[in-house]
Amino acid sequence: MSTIQRNPVREILFFVLSLVLFCSASDTIRQGGSLKDGDTLVSNGDKFELGFFSPGNSSLRYVGIWYRNISEITVVWVANRDAPISGKNGFLTIGNDGNLEIFDGNNSKSIWLSNALVSSNNKTARINDDGNLVLSEEETESTLWESFDHPTDTFLPGMEVEASSKRGENWAFRSWKSRNDPSPGNYSMGIDPRGSPQIVIWHGSERRWRSGHWNNQIFAGVPNMSSNIIYGFKLLLINGTAYFTYNPVDSSDKLRFRIEWTGIEEQLRWDEENDKWGVMQSQPDKANECELYNRCGKFGVCSSWETPICRCMDRFEPANLGEWRRGNWSGGCVRKTLLKCERNSTGKEEDIEDDGFVVMKLVKLPDFADLVSQGSVVNCKDECLKNCSCTAYADAGGIGCLIWTGSLLDVQHFKKGGNTLNVRLAHSDLGGNSKKSYALIITVSVVGAILLGLFAWLLWRYKLKFKVLPNPSAVSWLRSSEVLPSDAGKSKEYSTDLSGSVDVVTEQVNGPELALFSFNFVANSTDNFSEENKLGQGGFGPVYKGNLPGGQEIAVKRLSRKSGQGLEEFKNEIILIAKLQHRNLVRLLGCCIQGEEKMLLYEYMPNKSLDFFLFDTEKQALLDWKKRFNIIEGIARGLLYLHRDSRLRIIHRDLKASNILLDEEMNPKISDFGMARIFGGNQNELNTNRVVGTYGYMSPEYAMEGLFSVKSDVYSFGVLLLEILSGQRNTNLRNSQYSSLIGYAWHLWNEGKAIELLDPSIAETCSQDEVLRCIQVAVLCVQDSPVQRPTMPSVVLMLESENATLPLPIQPTFTSMRAILDTELLSEGIDHASVNDITVTMVDGR
Ligand SMILES: *[C@@H]1O[C@H](CO)[C@@H](O)[C@H](O)[C@H]1NC(C)=O
Ligand SMILES: *[C@@H]1O[C@H](CO)[C@@H](O)[C@H](O)[C@H]1NC(C)=O
Ligand SMILES: *[C@@H]1O[C@H](CO)[C@@H](O)[C@H](O)[C@H]1NC(C)=O
Ligand SMILES: *[C@@H]1O[C@H](CO)[C@@H](O)[C@H](O)[C@H]1NC(C)=O
Ligand SMILES: *[C@@H]1O[C@H](CO)[C@@H](O)[C@H](O)[C@H]1NC(C)=O
Ligand SMILES: *[C@@H]1O[C@H](CO)[C@@H](O)[C@H](O)[C@H]1NC(C)=O
Ligand SMILES: *[C@@H]1O[C@H](CO)[C@@H](O)[C@H](O)[C@H]1NC(C)=O
Ligand SMILES: *[C@@H]1O[C@H](CO)[C@@H](O)[C@H](O)[C@H]1NC(C)=O
Ligand SMILES: *[C@@H]1O[C@H](CO)[C@@H](O)[C@H](O)[C@H]1NC(C)=O
Ligand SMILES: *[C@@H]1O[C@H](CO)[C@@H](O)[C@H](O)[C@H]1NC(C)=O
Repeated sequence: MSTIQRNPVREILFFVLSLVLFCSASDTIRQGGSLKDGDTLVSNGDKFELGFFSPGNSSLRYVGIWYRNISEITVVWVANRDAPISGKNGFLTIGNDGNLEIFDGNNSKSIWLSNALVSSNNKTARINDDGNLVLSEEETESTLWESFDHPTDTFLPGMEVEASSKRGENWAFRSWKSRNDPSPGNYSMGIDPRGSPQIVIWHGSERRWRSGHWNNQIFAGVPNMSSNIIYGFKLLLINGTAYFTYNPVDSSDKLRFRIEWTGIEEQLRWDEENDKWGVMQSQPDKANECELYNRCGKFGVCSSWETPICRCMDRFEPANLGEWRRGNWSGGCVRKTLLKCERNSTGKEEDIEDDGFVVMKLVKLPDFADLVSQGSVVNCKDECLKNCSCTAYADAGGIGCLIWTGSLLDVQHFKKGGNTLNVRLAHSDLGGNSKKSYALIITVSVVGAILLGLFAWLLWRYKLKFKVLPNPSAVSWLRSSEVLPSDAGKSKEYSTDLSGSVDVVTEQVNGPELALFSFNFVANSTDNFSEENKLGQGGFGPVYKGNLPGGQEIAVKRLSRKSGQGLEEFKNEIILIAKLQHRNLVRLLGCCIQGEEKMLLYEYMPNKSLDFFLFDTEKQALLDWKKRFNIIEGIARGLLYLHRDSRLRIIHRDLKASNILLDEEMNPKISDFGMARIFGGNQNELNTNRVVGTYGYMSPEYAMEGLFSVKSDVYSFGVLLLEILSGQRNTNLRNSQYSSLIGYAWHLWNEGKAIELLDPSIAETCSQDEVLRCIQVAVLCVQDSPVQRPTMPSVVLMLESENATLPLPIQPTFTSMRAILDTELLSEGIDHASVNDITVTMVDGR
């Protein structure tokens, strides 16, 4: 911590004096003007201050920048760090050539120069509110030089640190020499872009610590970092060059990274309450020896919880057993058998067998990786086998295919997090059990095949016996297995005593009841479909409120469209849909089929639909954050049930706010599911010319090509999520700069300002973590490519697990926004989000 002991009395005096003399502190010096020792520049928002200071107990004077309004003077930048001034006569000015310059005062010797290429006159230097000192043209304000480009030991929010392979290792930050001496010390911190960028701390030119590769969300070698994602680290691409930057979500947070003179990098946050800096994390962690670079040598693995902490990788042995046993692990390990390429062929049997791999899970991937390809386009294993010098590969989520050539250095074993590394071994090192496992595989497959055959035969027998389906070709095996045992042909019909006067017919089909109502009964209950009873006009016809004789209220949907199905088929479909029962689905109580007239009877939802509240400026405040989150979770669970857990695989195809009904307690219930089955054809992905859906909620592939799948529902869910969060319609955005909510949301998310999307009326009730998580899930759901969108099981997991690391979305281009990243990022060799490797990966239902 750089603390400057200042005399409080002098401070106050100076403060009063400066008030009297200068009235208000300025944030600029102009060409010709100067800043004397004792004067300071103060940024516009009163956040940073620039002036002369003496660090600690030193009496030397330096020009620096520190936080303006905190009790502990904290210097974030020093100009003349290796050329201190010994007296108090120094001054800072803009010299004749337009550069910032510091003079020591006694003999007008220049001791520091900003060294910018400047030409004309009239320059100004301003201290900005982010702590950046900027030298610019007075007229045009074009930046000529800025202190953010010449940092000392502190990485401030908004600072951009280059991370490109063209530049190579970028030792951006250099520690102080000691607590009291800002001159360049032994440690540097910066970025090594190789493979995928990582933060490295060097001691001299030796590596001391590294963060592990950036995977588009976190540095994969810092397993606890997921919780810090909120501080907004990201890789920016500016004119084809990548930069690391970070911005706290709350811009009033005072946050900084610093490489201490002791070689420890600390992330600090100003704690207003306790009036001191809190350390959020520090690396390398003193308590964890494994964090020290390459603690266990080449091909060694460090596990902090084991004793000894070092061991060799599987099938490797210590290079020097004596030293290793003594706890000197620096020699590392060597392989027992050379790889095929390394051996000189002798024609022996072992030379014929190919190398293989041993899998290591939960590790910090070794240093010095090469990125072969992003995503899973290539077969990473083949890439490694192709290259004789390849010693390991990893198909790392969010990065791509990484391969290593040469020794594997600095591998650490984690309890959670990390990546999976595949280490190349000679065939004979893979162990003698490979033949046994082959035998096992063969046995299992043979037995499996026999069982499968038996099962198929039984199924076939069974099917023959119950050959009763009206149109078997249109029915999937799932349905048939469900319907077959029932006596679908012979439905029982009888009057119930629901009411004496009205005839109600109930058909019993294998378990749950589906009531078949007569037309007269429904007409009576809805007052002859009167306008007063009309609740609304749905996609498939008007909806009426009905009152059953017992007092129960129902909603009646009078289907106006022809279903294109035969009556029996339609009935079967309704029966199946009626069996879908879930807390978050509207319950189908019965139906009425009489001649051309087809009606569906649902439970009645007193609070109408979500759009009724969400898009109404007065009512939207009724849905506070807790309710909204509950609604989001409910919809997700309902959809998950439709997609996976129900016995039918239902794709909704028309998910939207008006199809989410709300019960008394504002619990969401999805309605109109199964309509697509009745009206839209089959349930698997296919090319359909009949597009059911609503503009604004339709996924690109569905809207343009008529292709639908569970992932098109996921897209609609994403849109709905954005609407719930923002209280705005996707297609009717108040902020007119963006054509849709999707583009707007992506923009905000990408800028690290996602929280601004939130409906202002709930800003107070919300949990920021939950909101941010929801926004990220939403943006993931509306990605262009169905493959990249998560499935509903992962969506539910992501929404519900507080500590899940979410994958990074790719910008949706279907919305009218232009893609700025992709191609350049790819060619630059920096990673790209991949959804294949999420901490919450789940197998798609069935
Ligand atoms: C400053 O303090 C350090 C210990 O913190 C001490 O070693 C050093 O001698 C002091 N220097 C001066 C000039 O007082
Ligand atoms: C300065 O700090 C005090 C308390 O430490 C606070 O009340 C005040 O608002 C701060 N001023 C600015 C401009 O941040
Ligand atoms: C400048 O003058 C002051 C006193 O006038 C003296 O203490 C200081 O050492 C001098 N600095 C240099 C660099 O000569
Ligand atoms: C500098 O500013 C002065 C007045 O502010 C103006 O007259 C002069 O032309 C400017 N010089 C240049 C080179 O822009
Ligand atoms: C920096 O390195 C020098 C020489 O290697 C050494 O004498 C000094 O103690 C080191 N300082 C720190 C803070 O490690
Ligand atoms: C990481 O988190 C675990 C539990 O969440 C904690 O025990 C451990 O100390 C943390 N490690 C670091 C380096 O912060
Ligand atoms: C990007 O490059 C172009 C031309 O090379 C230049 O005009 C533009 O100012 C650059 N933009 C940024 C943000 O550096
Ligand atoms: C550790 O072992 C290596 C050889 O593996 C040797 O060169 C080195 O001197 C040893 N270091 C110590 C401190 O014994
Ligand atoms: C393989 O042969 C080359 C020369 O042909 C020799 O330099 C090398 O040491 C040999 N390697 C082994 C493992 O025998
Ligand atoms: C093996 O991979 C390394 C690193 O990617 C590369 O430099 C080298 O050219 C490759 N060698 C072959 C034979 O492909």
